[in-house]
Amino acid sequence: MKIEEVKSTTRQQRIASHSHIKGLGLNEEGLADRSSSGLVGQDAAREAGGIVVELIKSKKMAGRAILLAGPPGTGKTAIALAIAQELGPRVPFCPMVGSEVYSSEVKKTEILMENFRRSIGLRIKETKEVWEGEVTEISPQEQEDQYGGSGKTVTSVIIGLKTAKGTKQLRLDPTIFESIQKEKVSIGDIIYIEASSGNVKRVGRSDAYATEFDLEAEEYVPIPKGDVHKKKEIIQDVTLHDLDMANAKPQGGKDFLSMMGQIMKPKKTEITEKLRAEINKVVNRYIDQGIAELVPGVLFIDEVHMLDIECFTYLNRALESPLSPIVILATNRGITTIRGTEIQAPHGIPQDLLDRLLIIRTMPYSLAEIVEIIAIRASAEGLSMEEEALAHFGYIGSQTTLRYVMQLLTPSRIIAETNGRDKICQGDVEEAGKLFFHGKQSAQILREQADQYIS
Ligand SMILES: Nc1ncnc2c1ncn2[C@@H]1O[C@H](COP(=O)(O)OP(=O)(O)O)[C@@H](O)[C@H]1O
Ligand SMILES: [Mg+2]
Repeated sequence: MKIEEVKSTTRQQRIASHSHIKGLGLNEEGLADRSSSGLVGQDAAREAGGIVVELIKSKKMAGRAILLAGPPGTGKTAIALAIAQELGPRVPFCPMVGSEVYSSEVKKTEILMENFRRSIGLRIKETKEVWEGEVTEISPQEQEDQYGGSGKTVTSVIIGLKTAKGTKQLRLDPTIFESIQKEKVSIGDIIYIEASSGNVKRVGRSDAYATEFDLEAEEYVPIPKGDVHKKKEIIQDVTLHDLDMANAKPQGGKDFLSMMGQIMKPKKTEITEKLRAEINKVVNRYIDQGIAELVPGVLFIDEVHMLDIECFTYLNRALESPLSPIVILATNRGITTIRGTEIQAPHGIPQDLLDRLLIIRTMPYSLAEIVEIIAIRASAEGLSMEEEALAHFGYIGSQTTLRYVMQLLTPSRIIAETNGRDKICQGDVEEAGKLFFHGKQSAQILREQADQYIS
């Protein structure tokens, strides 16, 4: 099984509009502070979320799942994300939407399976022989191209590494020069090179350089203490899906037709049931040997009423598996038919799955809460607005939904800018509200003007 070359396949998360949320914002007794960690109000749901975090940490959630139920824009996604954040930065959070399973290319349950495996993390600890230190020199050794070309080829690279104890100069293979370039290593960085594989990892910038004006996102680390050449415990976080991907063999040869076949076919089909079973076996062995530790993450399925009976059956079974993540479902539906059946059920979820769920309800916000959330969001987006504008946003939010009024923030800023102001005023908000319709408004207009539309 390949582990060293595993690349993370974590998707760009759909959480940009939740970037102000840092956690559940609970105090030591587990009670919700009115406004904390970016969350405002919704106290009961947040406190319930806190208990869920406790249950997960004490490993008492097996075979169960959570359902967040409430009207649109009441913070279901926000709270799911906050729960994941409370579990720690290394815990994978994998969001998906129920309707994602309907693809003509791949089986529904296959998509669910893939997302399950994306949300199960594995932390692998290995002791490896490495060279580690602050880079003092990178000099590639070049030679005239022996085939008569005009270019030069790199034959080896000389690296100088410094620790608190001493300095060492290494002459390394040219492939290592490539990985040094890929990691964007420069002089003054702390790196380590794995002796067995030649993998180069950039740890950060030496804190000896910390006073210099540098990139904001830079992480400064102290210069390593021991020898340059040593044994080091290396921790790598991957998900089961990363392992599946890295071990799936690309099919076919190099001829044109099979290459086209590889382009047309989504990669997913290459991961077989057999491969997964094989990987599970190895993973379990690693866990038994203490090399790896399982880190169950959070699988968040939004709009869960979009799943059909086949998917629900699969979910029920998957929750039983020892390799299962924490599953959080969300829906804004009341009593509705279960897809793929004629049966009516609460939230469109079959009874046997409902029985396994801890249900957390989210409630609509008060005017004051909406105003406060908008203010937090505006500062997260770097917008400034007048008092009356904020109040008007609150008013619109209380008449429509929080989601809608959040979406008016950027248009209002653009309108203000067009009028040569950098502060949003009430007029800008009103204008944005006239340009973009709320769902209910739009439905009302359609009803009134039904004769003008094709139906
Ligand atoms: N209690 C809250 N405090 C701060 N921001 C919130 C809160 N509830 C919702 N939001 C924000 O409002 C927006 C809509 O909420 P969202 O979680 O998407 O609602 P839902 O998933 O219930 O439809 C998001 O940008 C979310 O981050
Ligand atoms: Mg949502």
